[in-house]
Amino acid sequence: RRALGRNGPLAGRRVVVTAGPTYEPIDPVRFIGNRSSGKQGFALAQAALDRGAEVVLIAGPVALETPIGARRIDVGTAAEMAEAVWREAEAADVLLMAAAVADYRPAQSRPFKIKRGEGLTLELIPTVDILAGVAARRASAGKPHVIVGFAAETRDLLENAQAKLQAKGLDLIVANDVTEPGAGFAVDTNRVTLIDARGRIEPLPLMSKAAVAEAILDRVVALLSATGG
Ligand code: CTP
Ligand code: CA
Repeated sequence: RRALGRNGPLAGRRVVVTAGPTYEPIDPVRFIGNRSSGKQGFALAQAALDRGAEVVLIAGPVALETPIGARRIDVGTAAEMAEAVWREAEAADVLLMAAAVADYRPAQSRPFKIKRGEGLTLELIPTVDILAGVAARRASAGKPHVIVGFAAETRDLLENAQAKLQAKGLDLIVANDVTEPGAGFAVDTNRVTLIDARGRIEPLPLMSKAAVAEAILDRVVALLSATGG
């Protein structure tokens, strides 16, 4: 691993990374969440550290070791992640939003365990869109200079990812067809396509999540110098 550290291209930069799922409680023992190991997000944190960045890693519930040198903030729900991201993004140069945020949460979380055996109907309500909130605040705050989102798709990869890039006001989106072999959840490899706000599309081959992270950080370094931020 290239330990560029203090002399790296992100020296003096603050990078906020989100990783893993969020868990939305149904009762004290059950939750609704997306599938996510957090591996791609943790690899991004490591790649940013290797380039000399100061890294804040906002992690949902995952079973991974904190990369040495990162400041880790553990969160549970989408609302908790939103609070942490919005607070940390104000002073961040870069936001890498790799988390698989739950899209819905139970309208009420029951205080006691629901007992098995009876029928159960849950009312679900949408969670807050964390990324859209960051992009909206950027207009007045001026930061983060570079906002990177991820798109987990099962069909129409490029169209769906491009629509998210525009709707959320991103600089770069990492499009991921999660049905592809080697690109799913919990594996150590990934196959992604990078799409930037100018419409440049760069498909990457199947490679390790560490290598994907390297490629994304190289693009982030280029975008940072392009924005003059
Ligand atoms: N995201 C977010 N807040 C949410 C949901 C998603 O900030 N409540 C972020 C994700 O971290 C990711 C990007 O938005 O960087 C796209 O997430 P994705 O799940 O692919 O898209 P959604 O906008 O949630 O749309 P859908 O799941 O319906 O395809
Ligand atoms: Ca989603």
